[in-house]
Amino acid sequence: MHRIEEILRKQIGLDATSIGSSVIERTSRLRMKQCGLKDAEEYDRLLAESPEELSTLVEAIVVTETWFMRGREAFAAFADLAINDWLPRNPKAEMRVLSLPCSSGEEPYSMVMALLDAGMPADRFTVDAVDISANALARAGNAIYGKNSFRVKHLEFRDKYFVQVEDGYALSPDIQRHVTFHRDNLLREGYKSGVRYDFIFCRNLLIYFDRVTQSAALNKIRTMLAPDGVLFVGPAEMPIVTDYGFANANISHAFASRMLETRSQRSEVRSSKSDLRLPGSDFDLPAVASLEMDRAVSPLIIARRLADAGQLADAEMLCRKHLETDDTCAEGYYLLGLVKDAANDPEAINYYRKAIYLEPNHYEALVHAALWLEKNGDVTRADAFKRRVERVRPKHQVES
Ligand SMILES: C[S@@+](CC[C@H](N)C(=O)[O-])C[C@H]1O[C@@H](n2cnc3c(N)ncnc32)[C@H](O)[C@@H]1O
Repeated sequence: MHRIEEILRKQIGLDATSIGSSVIERTSRLRMKQCGLKDAEEYDRLLAESPEELSTLVEAIVVTETWFMRGREAFAAFADLAINDWLPRNPKAEMRVLSLPCSSGEEPYSMVMALLDAGMPADRFTVDAVDISANALARAGNAIYGKNSFRVKHLEFRDKYFVQVEDGYALSPDIQRHVTFHRDNLLREGYKSGVRYDFIFCRNLLIYFDRVTQSAALNKIRTMLAPDGVLFVGPAEMPIVTDYGFANANISHAFASRMLETRSQRSEVRSSKSDLRLPGSDFDLPAVASLEMDRAVSPLIIARRLADAGQLADAEMLCRKHLETDDTCAEGYYLLGLVKDAANDPEAINYYRKAIYLEPNHYEALVHAALWLEKNGDVTRADAFKRRVERVRPKHQVES
C-alpha cells in the first residue's frame, strides 16, 4: 500500500497521514475488488497504465466536504475589501476572483452572493473555480443542494437566492452565471492560470499536503495573486502561509493574508509572531480564529475547538498531523476518537482503546469507551470500562 500512498502524493500532493493510511488502504482494496484484482502489485501496474483508474481512485480519496458560507467572516471581509478597497482603486477594471479548490461550488457561489449583497455591481467581477474532482464539479454545475450544504445558522441567503425543488434547493442562475468552473490539479506541472487574481480563496487544501508540497502549492498561488491581492485560507492553514512569507492581514476571523514584498519584511513578521499569546478560553469558532498566528498553541487545542465548532474533517486532520509527530500521545488518540464518535464512525472505539493503552487511567477516554460500547450493545465490555472509570474517577467528582 506504500506504493499507492506514493502515487497519491505525487499526483495530488496528498499526505497519507492527513486522512490516515487506513482510509487509503480501505479505498484501494475496494477499487481492487471492483477491478477484479487480488494482488496489490497488479493494482499498482493498473494505476501506472490507466489514467482513468487513477482518476477513479483520486475521486474516491479526496475529501470534498464543504458548505455555503463556511467561515462566514471570510466572506464578509472579502466583500468589504472588494467594495471599500479594491473598487475605489480600480474604477474601471473587472475584479478577478479565484476559488481553488472549489469542490461542489458552495464556496465560489457564496463569494458571489456576498459580493452582490454588499453592493458590488454585477458587471464588475468574475469568479473562476477550480477543483481536481470531476464529481464535485458536476454537482457544482447542477447547482441543486441538499441540507448538508446549509450548515450555518443564518440562512437568509437561501431564502433569497434559492428555490426549493424536489431534491433540494436550486441556486438562482443570476448567481451561477458569475462562476466559471474548470477541472485541474494545482500541482500539475505547468498548471498556471495566466490571470492575476485580486482575491484567491485556497481554503482547506494545504492541510492535506506535507511541508514540501505546501511550499510548491504556495509558489503557484503566489504567481497567480496580484501584487496587492488577498489570499484567504482555512483556520488551520494560517500558520502555513505566514511561515511561507505571507503577512496576516489581521482581519478578525477571516484568515486573510497578503504577500510580503521582500525577504526582510518576511523575517520581521516571523520574529514578531513569537510575541503572540493564547487568548480567551471560550470554545467557540472565534476562539479558534484568534489562535491563527500562534504556532506555540498545541494543534490539539485547535483541533478540539474545531471539533466543538462541528468542523470534524479539519479537527481530524490536525489530530493526525499531531500524532505524526508524537504517536504516543494519549490525548491525541482520545480526541481522534471523539471526532470519529461525532461522525458515527465505528473506528472511534479503536482510538479510545489506543488512548487507554497509552494512558491506562485516561478518565475521559475510559468514560467515552464505556459509553460507545454501551451504545453499540456490548454491555459486558462497557461494564468492565465502567468499573475502571469508578477506580480512576477524579476525587472531587466522587464527592459531589
Ligand atoms: C475540503 S474541500 C475544500 C473546499 C472549499 N475550499 C472549502 O473550504 O469548503 C478540498 C477539495 O480539494 C480538492 N483537491 C484536492 N487536491 C487537489 C489538487 N491537487 N488540485 C485541485 N484540487 C484539489 C478536492 O477535490 C476537494 O474538493
